[in-house]
Amino acid sequence: MHNILVTGGAGFIGSNFINKLLKDRDDVSLVNLDKLTYAGNLENLKESETNSRYQFVKGDICNSELVDYIIKKYNIKHVINFAAESHVDRSILGSQIFYQTNVIGTNVLLEVSRRNDIEKFVQVSTDEVYGSLGPDGYFTESTPISPNSPYSSSKAGADMMVQAFHHTYGMNVCITRCSNNYGPLQFPEKLIPLMIINALNNKQLPVYGDGLNVRDWIFVHDHNKAIEMVWEKGKPGEVYNIGSNNEKKNIEIVKLILQYLGKGEDLIKYVKDRPGHDRRYAIDSSKITAELGWQPLKTFETGIAETIDWYLANKNWWERIISGEYENYYQNLYGSR
Ligand code: NAD
Ligand code: TYD
Repeated sequence: MHNILVTGGAGFIGSNFINKLLKDRDDVSLVNLDKLTYAGNLENLKESETNSRYQFVKGDICNSELVDYIIKKYNIKHVINFAAESHVDRSILGSQIFYQTNVIGTNVLLEVSRRNDIEKFVQVSTDEVYGSLGPDGYFTESTPISPNSPYSSSKAGADMMVQAFHHTYGMNVCITRCSNNYGPLQFPEKLIPLMIINALNNKQLPVYGDGLNVRDWIFVHDHNKAIEMVWEKGKPGEVYNIGSNNEKKNIEIVKLILQYLGKGEDLIKYVKDRPGHDRRYAIDSSKITAELGWQPLKTFETGIAETIDWYLANKNWWERIISGEYENYYQNLYGSR
C-alpha cells in the first residue's frame, strides 16, 4: 500500500485526483489535508468519503506540527502538494495569502518531509511560472522562469525551493507545470465555469481586454493522470510540462459556451483588462510523453461538452457557492479596476 499525503484535495484538481485514484487503484491510501478556504469543498469528495483508504484532515499546510503529526500517524511516504491559493485575479486584489500558502506552506511541507524521510515529493505547479509568450513558440522545461502575477511569482518561488531541496539534501522531488485546466468541480471564478454559470443565469459574460488572450486548455483528468505518472515514474529533481496542444482565444471559448447553451452573444461584455494580463500560454509537453509515456486522452470538443453538461446537471453544487461571499468578491474585483 502506498500511503500518500495529498494537500488541497478539497479543491478542483485535488478532489478530481482523489476520487479518480481511489476508484482506479486499490494500492493507494490517501490522507487529504485541506484548510477548506473559499475554494475547498468537501462536497467534491462525496464519492470518496466512505472509502476506508481515504482520510480527511482539516488544517493548514503552514502548520508544521500538524503536518509532522499526520506524516507519522499515517506512516506517509509520499506527498503530492496541490494546496494553493490559485486565482490570479484574487492575487491582484491581495497577495499576502498567496505567498503565505504557496511559498511558506510549501516550505513547511518540504522541511517536515525531509525530516521524516519522505520517499517522493510532487509539487503541482503551473506553466504560468514561465511568464507570457508572444504569438509563436512554446514553454519547454528549459524556458527561463519569469512570472508576472503575484500568483505565478508565488508558485515560481515554491518551485525554486523544491529544486533547492533536491540539490541540497538529495530529496526525491518532481515538479509538474500544467496549463489551464477545465472540467467538473471547478470553482466558478475561473473562466470556463464562470461563463457557463453566468450564461445559464442570463448574466453578462465579462471578457477582459480584447478577448484575444490565449490559454492552452487541458481536461482535469488528463492533468491528474500525468501527476500520477510523475509520482510513480518521474526522475528525481525533474520538471515535467503538461499540456494537450489546445490553444484557444478567450473569446472563442466564450462564444462556444454561449452557442452550446443556445444563448445570444449579446450577453458578452468587454470589460477593463486584468492588470499585467499574460497574453499567451502554450505548452510543449514532449518530455513527459517521451520519458513517461503520458498522452492526453480527451479532445476539447468532448471535454467542454462534458463540462457544460456537468454544470447543467449539478446546479445545486454551484448555486450554493454563488449564494455565499461570491458576490462580494466580484464587487471588489471590478471596484479595484
Ligand atoms: P483550487 O483553488 O480549486 O483548490 C485549492 C485547494 O487548496 C482548496 O481546497 C483550498 O481549501 C486548499 N488550500 C488553500 N490554502 C491551503 C492551506 N494553506 N492549507 C491547506 N489547504 C489549502 O485550486 P486548483 O485549481 O484545484 O489547483 C490545484 C493546484 O494546481 C494549485 O497548486 C495550482 O497552482 C495548480 N494548477 C492549477 C491549474 C488550473 O488551471 N486550475 C493549472 C496548473 C496548476
Ligand atoms: P483564469 O481562468 O482566471 O485563468 P488564468 O488567469 O490562470 O489563465 O482566466 C483565463 C483567461 O480568461 C485569462 O486570460 C483571463 C480571462 N478571463 C476573462 O476574460 N474574464 C473572466 O471573467 C475571467 C475569470 C478570466
